Amino acid sequence: MLRRRGVILPAFQIHGGVAGLFDFGPIGGRLRRRLKNAWLNHWLSEGDIVEVDSPTITPESVLIASGHVGEFNDYMSECNNCNSAFRSDHLVEEHHPNPDSLNSADLDNIITERAVVCPGCGVSDWSNCRPMNLMFSTQIGAMKGSRLAYMRPETAQGMFMLFPALYRHFRGRLPFGAVQSGKGYRNEISPRQGMIRLREFNMAELEYFIDPDVHIPHDFSPWDGEKFHLVQDPEFGEPISMSPREAADANVIRHPTVAWFMARTWDFLTSVGIKPDKIRFRQHEGDEMAHYASDCWDAEIEGSYGWIECVGIAHRGCYDLNAHEVATGDSNLRAWRSYDEPRIVDKTILSGVGSIIGPTFKSQAGLVNQALTEIDTTSPTFPFELTLADGATVTIEEDMVENKRVQNTEHGEWFLPHVVEPAFGIDRILWHILDHAYDETEKGGEKYTVLHLANSIAPIDVAILPLMEKEGLDSLAESVHRLICSVPNLVSYYDGSGSIGRRYARADEVGVPWAVTIDHESLSNSTATIRRRDDGKQIRVSIADIAKLISDNSLNQLF
Ligand code: GLY
Repeated sequence: MLRRRGVILPAFQIHGGVAGLFDFGPIGGRLRRRLKNAWLNHWLSEGDIVEVDSPTITPESVLIASGHVGEFNDYMSECNNCNSAFRSDHLVEEHHPNPDSLNSADLDNIITERAVVCPGCGVSDWSNCRPMNLMFSTQIGAMKGSRLAYMRPETAQGMFMLFPALYRHFRGRLPFGAVQSGKGYRNEISPRQGMIRLREFNMAELEYFIDPDVHIPHDFSPWDGEKFHLVQDPEFGEPISMSPREAADANVIRHPTVAWFMARTWDFLTSVGIKPDKIRFRQHEGDEMAHYASDCWDAEIEGSYGWIECVGIAHRGCYDLNAHEVATGDSNLRAWRSYDEPRIVDKTILSGVGSIIGPTFKSQAGLVNQALTEIDTTSPTFPFELTLADGATVTIEEDMVENKRVQNTEHGEWFLPHVVEPAFGIDRILWHILDHAYDETEKGGEKYTVLHLANSIAPIDVAILPLMEKEGLDSLAESVHRLICSVPNLVSYYDGSGSIGRRYARADEVGVPWAVTIDHESLSNSTATIRRRDDGKQIRVSIADIAKLISDNSLNQLF
């Protein structure tokens, strides 16, 4: 149905297709857009979160600093018989409850001991597993002047690069966040499971910057009646059902901001049609965690493929800002924390010897003294080059400086903010929305399919159906269709072919919540019937009111 109706289709099929690349067709493109908009609006409504957009092509140095060049690997095993390559953890799935947490030696041992056979040729003869970097590389520019770059594996690095702009935007007040939704790329070794493991995919990520020393008073009361299904790292405890407040108080979820984002993630998933009893949160085991994370909970959704990670809510600490600061020397990745009371601090500093600095540097002497106070060592290696505020460079000899004890009054300090990151896989969520919405029954001896999509993300709001395509019913229906399409954010489609029952069925199959039928009475009194997808009930409404009733979501109240 997904292919036939143009929801999701394998891409480039007439050229043989490529595993892990999919098209969103005329129904899927709109569905994905609405899902992304719902996601964006969900987070922007917080008030301290803004939207940004960064390039997908990322220079190598950024991803060296972030650790992706060195660490963003999956283990791969090659079949010595047919040369096919597979993810090693996938090969041992039947033999271990959490293969993602295994190291290379463990993976090789299980593959050998259990005589795992190649899914391609059935032979059990494997190379030792080795890490394969998952990023697609590319070149920026041509020939000798080109730079190595990668297609971004996550949108997050773009947000870290934008930290100074965000900090200015929020006038230096933490906490604040940025969201970004766009493409991410991972050169998966052997993609499978349809939409679940893609090589180019739709990510939607939020980086929330916090001061690790400040307690944020999150209001957990909206979820006090909810018990979340929490699967802890087995090292810490058994699976447990708790409200987010209880889980944060009991330290099951170690950071309250992580607990709060888990709760808001649950809100989002259920608002777009994921069934609440098919959501659980699973804590990553130590060896399973991404290189940047200190704690991570996945929101997993149950569907046709079992429990699948669809959102990762990670505490990234100051890993990324620190890594970029170390790599670039840029000091703008910090935030200012004021002390409650000024602090008097005794310090030893490097100070210019006036009788030498003055005559040697003359008009530059002031700038030299200033630059010396900013050096963070009191025992440099001499001689050394000192860069002044005007950009000039001078050479400092040992006899020009001395160590001096001073007392400073400090009013605060610059520190590296910590980051909590909910990262959403839009394609996986969309797949599960379809999976949960899909309802197949029998009607008159035939299969009848309804997609019970939430109205907020249904790709088409309303089908406009003339009872017959003659006697002016078709032209009135056409004009109602165009009128509805002209309303921002409303989408309708016109369908005049086949019996009215067939047309309802076509609309139900792709989840259109409302169907308007234009009949002879419509010509005389400008009313039409409107049918509700989920129970087939119909009422008569004024044609002039249809767009407004759908836009403000008030139609249900009339039934
Ligand atoms: N930023 C989260 C991830 O890369 O999965």
